Amino acid sequence: MNKQPFFYDITLRDGNQALKKPWNLQEKEIIFNKLIELGVQGIEVGFPNASELDFEAVEHLSKIAPNNVVVSALARCVETDIRKAADAIKQAPKPRIHTFMAMNPLGIEYVIKKPLNEIKDICIKSVKLAKSLLPEYGDVEFSVEHFGDCVENINDVIEALKEIVNAGATTINLPNTVERFRPQTFVNMVQKVKMALPENVTISVHCHNDLGMATATTVESYFAGATQLECSLNGLGERSGNTNMYEVAIALHNSGIEIPLNLSNIYETALLTSEMANVPIWEKAPLIGYDALAHRSGIHQDGVAKTKHLSKGAYRAFNPELIGRGTDESFEFTSQSGKTALYEILNGTPYKITMQEAIYLSKFAKTEAEKIGNLSTECLIDLYLKKICDIQGDFVLEDFRKIDSDRFNLSFEYKNEEFDITAKGNGPIEGCINALKKAGFDIKLINYEQKTIEAQKGEEAEAMSIMQFDNNSNGTITARAINSSTAEANVKAIFNGLNLMYPAN
Ligand code: KIV
Ligand code: ZN
Repeated sequence: MNKQPFFYDITLRDGNQALKKPWNLQEKEIIFNKLIELGVQGIEVGFPNASELDFEAVEHLSKIAPNNVVVSALARCVETDIRKAADAIKQAPKPRIHTFMAMNPLGIEYVIKKPLNEIKDICIKSVKLAKSLLPEYGDVEFSVEHFGDCVENINDVIEALKEIVNAGATTINLPNTVERFRPQTFVNMVQKVKMALPENVTISVHCHNDLGMATATTVESYFAGATQLECSLNGLGERSGNTNMYEVAIALHNSGIEIPLNLSNIYETALLTSEMANVPIWEKAPLIGYDALAHRSGIHQDGVAKTKHLSKGAYRAFNPELIGRGTDESFEFTSQSGKTALYEILNGTPYKITMQEAIYLSKFAKTEAEKIGNLSTECLIDLYLKKICDIQGDFVLEDFRKIDSDRFNLSFEYKNEEFDITAKGNGPIEGCINALKKAGFDIKLINYEQKTIEAQKGEEAEAMSIMQFDNNSNGTITARAINSSTAEANVKAIFNGLNLMYPAN
């Protein structure tokens, strides 16, 4: 059985250091509280020796941290960094010092310019110092910066890590500081470290997203034994960012792993983070982008509609409710869409539609979409009102009046011929149908329904009349009309029905 993942957030450190305007204490506190609500188990709150501002933020967040959350401060393998970090986090209920040094051949030769043996000694000394400055309930994390670039010297790195663990590091973090290779190459290296170190050492991964594979690498590293997953909100971090926490959480959830996060907070957290970081959410961003839940092509819309009652539906990687986007799934009408989209979109508004009507309307909507692209719901409603509720044809209603209690007068035009007919009826519907019969147009009403269209944007509520007529050998036809007067809506629906049954050539 896989161990439960430990989500260690780095938004306030790696994410923050890459912002155009890094956060101040108050801003960090807002994100910190959101992380607590989300339920992360560890938070790297800053790099205290980087600036006085960061020191104060780390100190403050350590004081307000809940008892069950690890609060960590970053420090290079430099004495002043480590002492500053220890000082800043001393009031945290679960303090951690995270110290790091590169061990990759490029770093060794050109940046640090010291042999690995010397680097290892510095790391051991630093870990021992960090451990000595922490209370016994604190711990030390050590990162091999650029671990992903240690393909050629992985065996030497592992030997160094064994000694670093003996010096007191209980979490070994393996960063893909710059993502250059296949996820599998990295995952194999993670597995090698996991197998070489004692069982009680926590293996962690910290992947940057230079090639867009950080989520894949992190998820697969988990299955290779890395239980601490270093991720950030909205994927914030240096360059193309760090591993996006939401993506990892949902990918693991979909794989049957129990995720210790409040997943339904994801979307709200993403919106707040975007606002605070001043980094917009890309519309194509997995899970949180607008388009992540927008379906535009007919085939996809049909599949989604047919499986919408299932939590795992067609063309849907996750249930939107899971991440707090229960009402965000949308069907948009483009020239690639069809009847299902119309049916779903309009039935989500007060302007209900039958599938038969959606089929009829979709050809007009497609023509419109070919001209102007994506049709908004308002645009589809306009089309619906024009093409369904006000059908233009050979039958043109001119006037309909009640003469006395059971007599009605109907005037209309049909193919340039004027009709002015009085007929009896038990109410306006019967009066109108009888007048049409007298004029030679016999129609059979088989069902009638009256609905109220709720008031929209300051307008009055309206009556919708829905009528079903026998369309002889073609089955039945549904016609509807909307008007502020119920009687007018009824007569207009009858004329819409006539124009549908006898379409103009
Ligand atoms: O990407 C990286 O290597 C880091 C380390 C400081 C952990 O951020
Ligand atoms: Zn990093």
